[in-house]
Amino acid sequence: GVTKHYTFDIKLQNVTRLCHTKSMVTVNGKFPGPRIMAREGDRLLIKVINHVQNNITIHWHGIRQLQSGWADGPAYITQCPIQTGKSYVYNFTIVGQRGTFFWHAHISWLRSTVYGPLIILPKPNVSYPFSKPHKEVPIIFGEWFNADPEAIISQALQTGGGPNVSDAYTLNGLPGPLYNCSAQDTFRLKVKPGKIYLIRLINAALNDELFFSIANHSVTVVETDAIYVKPFETDTFLITPGQTTNVLLKTKPNFPAADFLMTARPYATGQGTFDNSTVAGILEYESPSLHSTVPVKNLPLFKPNLPALNDTTFATNFTNRLKSLASAQYPSNVPQQVDKHFFFTVGLGTNPCDQNQTCQGPNGTKFAASVNNVSFVQPTTALLQAHFFGQSNGVYSPSFPFSPAHWFNFTGNPPNNTMVGNGTKVVVLPFNTSVELVMQDTSILGVESHPLHLHGFNFFVVGQGFGNYDPKNEPKKFNLVDPIERNTVGVPSGGWVAIRFQADNPGVWFMHCHLEVHTSWGLKMAWLVLDGKLPNQKLPPPPADLPKC
Ligand code: C2O
Repeated sequence: GVTKHYTFDIKLQNVTRLCHTKSMVTVNGKFPGPRIMAREGDRLLIKVINHVQNNITIHWHGIRQLQSGWADGPAYITQCPIQTGKSYVYNFTIVGQRGTFFWHAHISWLRSTVYGPLIILPKPNVSYPFSKPHKEVPIIFGEWFNADPEAIISQALQTGGGPNVSDAYTLNGLPGPLYNCSAQDTFRLKVKPGKIYLIRLINAALNDELFFSIANHSVTVVETDAIYVKPFETDTFLITPGQTTNVLLKTKPNFPAADFLMTARPYATGQGTFDNSTVAGILEYESPSLHSTVPVKNLPLFKPNLPALNDTTFATNFTNRLKSLASAQYPSNVPQQVDKHFFFTVGLGTNPCDQNQTCQGPNGTKFAASVNNVSFVQPTTALLQAHFFGQSNGVYSPSFPFSPAHWFNFTGNPPNNTMVGNGTKVVVLPFNTSVELVMQDTSILGVESHPLHLHGFNFFVVGQGFGNYDPKNEPKKFNLVDPIERNTVGVPSGGWVAIRFQADNPGVWFMHCHLEVHTSWGLKMAWLVLDGKLPNQKLPPPPADLPKC
């Protein structure tokens, strides 16, 4: 591999959408931010220079950071933030991974404007396990807030809804023609007839799972979360925040004399307080018979039919179709043996408040989200530093529970499972432990699946279902042959998922809901994976420029 250098200047930029101009934090003045391109085996050196008042960190979402945990990026987990006027070089090598990733700010709600695609191509001379595309196009979904997202976090924490609703979804930063005052801000995907396009979809939205479809075209899903899957055809799919999906789009053999909308809109199991409007881009055929100086104007415009907002049947069927290749060239490494079993409840809850509305949730808030009834409290120094230098005392405790404090019974009355305790607790795992984790949604509040994202690993989704997880019978049905391998999985509202992973990467690894509002409420925890015995199983010391708290 080669070494590639990038510079990320964090600076303010005026951006206008929906006829509303605001000054926002960006990378290099771009929204969305710049695309990073590298190959498997390359080393990336990305210098992040902070010119704004906010503290910042950047996370390389889905990159395993094998023995480079110092470059992972979540604030106060693997590093202290980069302060105003300071810089930090993220230094990591892409080992054994290729596919579609993204990068985003990992502090506060800054990822609403600070994000961009991260594309890892296969090694030179290695081809895709599907037909070579004519062209590759990233499509990154996000959200546009007329207000400053930073300023509305505290409101979101208190109220659990309204104020954190974004004003539009965006496709490559553009809301598209279905919003008021937005037709000029429409992404156009220009294609030629009879070709294959590889579309790399990324859901970088803060708070919404999305259905996506292109009118009058079906696509072939070939990869999710940078892992090849058994190809299958569909005209609509589901992508949760934190997930990526690669699809092949085969264009029509002849110029169709029409334009086609591609649209995305949320999936939720009930009416939430989120924005359920529709973002759209346009798939536009370039006529082979007309010169580009004669644009084909006023063609009919076809619209796709997206599933209903609450179409859980579609969502479930779609998810069930995903299987990894499990071929000779791309075998499945799903752990067949389990060293440690965990059962985590994930969900939202409320905390008691006094008459001054000072509540017992994180930072005195009413709403809280938790894992096993523990709402994560952000430490004031980075966990990884505290661990590495043997200074964990008073920073975190290794006492994260293996199962919930309050048992969960989906079929009974609402269980006493909304009670939330606070703490900065981690699970400590010896090097190379094979872990099975069942995550059960408690569904007390909230109508969305929880897209749980694990840093530092890919995991295998060996089972999922609705209702109570049944520890006796479900494991017999687990898929240990070709389960989907990924880094973000939707724990269905009112259901569960079972995952397995091999803890072969020393460091401190964050796991959290990728719905930003739930993360803010505390739906997060960390795994601490100890060093192994061999030199290549140890976390090296931190780089000299690692920011201090
Ligand atoms: Cu994409 Cu910890 O996040």
